[in-house]
Amino acid sequence: MERSGFSSKVGFIAAAAGSAVGLGNIWKFPFEVGESGGAAFVIVYLAFCLILCFPLMVAEIAIGRKAQRNPVGAFVALGYGKWSIVGKLGILSCVLILSFYNVVAGWCFGYFVEILLGNFSIGEQFPVFVKDIIKVGSYSILFMATTAYIVSRGISGGIEKAAKILMPVLFTIILVLAGYAMTLPGASKATQFYLFPDFSKITGEVVYNALGHAFFSLSLGMGAMITYGSYVGKKDNIISSAVAITLLDVGIAFMAGLMLFPMVISQGLDAHGGAGLVFMSLPGVFGNMGPVMGLVVGILFFLLLSFAALTSTVSILEIPVSYLVDEKEMKRPRAVWLVAAGIFVLGIPSLLSNGYSGFFTKFITYFGASDPTDFMTFISDVASNSFLPLNGFLIALFVAFVWKKENLFEEVSNGNKRFANTLIANFLGFSIKYLCPWILGIVFVLNVLDTFFGLTLFG
Ligand code: PFF
Repeated sequence: MERSGFSSKVGFIAAAAGSAVGLGNIWKFPFEVGESGGAAFVIVYLAFCLILCFPLMVAEIAIGRKAQRNPVGAFVALGYGKWSIVGKLGILSCVLILSFYNVVAGWCFGYFVEILLGNFSIGEQFPVFVKDIIKVGSYSILFMATTAYIVSRGISGGIEKAAKILMPVLFTIILVLAGYAMTLPGASKATQFYLFPDFSKITGEVVYNALGHAFFSLSLGMGAMITYGSYVGKKDNIISSAVAITLLDVGIAFMAGLMLFPMVISQGLDAHGGAGLVFMSLPGVFGNMGPVMGLVVGILFFLLLSFAALTSTVSILEIPVSYLVDEKEMKRPRAVWLVAAGIFVLGIPSLLSNGYSGFFTKFITYFGASDPTDFMTFISDVASNSFLPLNGFLIALFVAFVWKKENLFEEVSNGNKRFANTLIANFLGFSIKYLCPWILGIVFVLNVLDTFFGLTLFG
């Protein structure tokens, strides 16, 4: 049976770039940069995107398109059923990630509403806002329901259509805001912090964070690209699509920094603001821009964040849904609403872990740590920082040593034998066989030792 899919290559790129561009780019990237010493982090991150993540993205898309299946069924369809454990780990990661991602997405939408109502002091009220369970719970339900509605409409009529509308809007907003930020008084100091690296800042932790972030940001390691790849037309060019997706993702993260740092620094605030940079510092920054400008910039910013999150939540939800539709022959709408409801329930501890419930707020103390970690950060440490690189490692092993690069090249080039001699093919083959398994394997182990056991080997 012909599998329904994206109606065009542009539609696929919009949807996949929509998956990649999300809270990771606009919320997490700038604060990781702020915490990990500015440009040094940016350089390590860009290197990982190019050298490891781009080849893995090509591999994921190719596996999906060849198999025409969800991440679990894909390995079975290719004839390596044992490897479907990789898909299962991917689905587990995506369920965990969406459970907390949706909570943060709900905050973004909540902030959009608050700023729309002129409440610029919402930044100072952040600790109170996140504890208002009825309010944040409702925003979070609303966000999950919107995501589910889009996914329930199918690939071309739901996901692709939404991405084709949301992505250009998102792109325009970020261009306008970054352009405006460049005119602010702090712009040159901010760009210096952001663009000139201090290599002494590159520690082991910066490297793990950069890799974890590159993975998360490019939506790798949990089968999102296998899933979307399974809906790509046989004639579409996988390499040029992956180049476009990677460049859009990296470019938008980069612009998010260009937009945020001048805004924050121009108000005399600290760029090392941590997770609170967006939710605590920015609303006040908007408030100081004057009533009209502040309102316009503030509304646009949180709309941007909400749209970016939405195209990502859609892609995460599609993964388990495609599994249930393919493997369990469930009808799409039923699968969508069932999974969405289940993940929302699983996200309740994350919702409560920001001060509302003492138990979830101080959920676990890692070995060697002095302070407890909240439930939401714990899930993020497990799923995004540990499972994703582990899964990326396994996918690289699979492609390099089981499926073999010849099959990858055949799928990528539509059977053109000359492709294997090209520069790009050599780079892909080398990265997947020699770089990805080693670097991902080592960084995964070091990261787990560092995060959960306090053993920092490269300080
Ligand atoms: N790439 C998204 C972001 O940067 O926010 C998050 C994400 C989406 C991760 C889809 C993984 C995924 F499969």
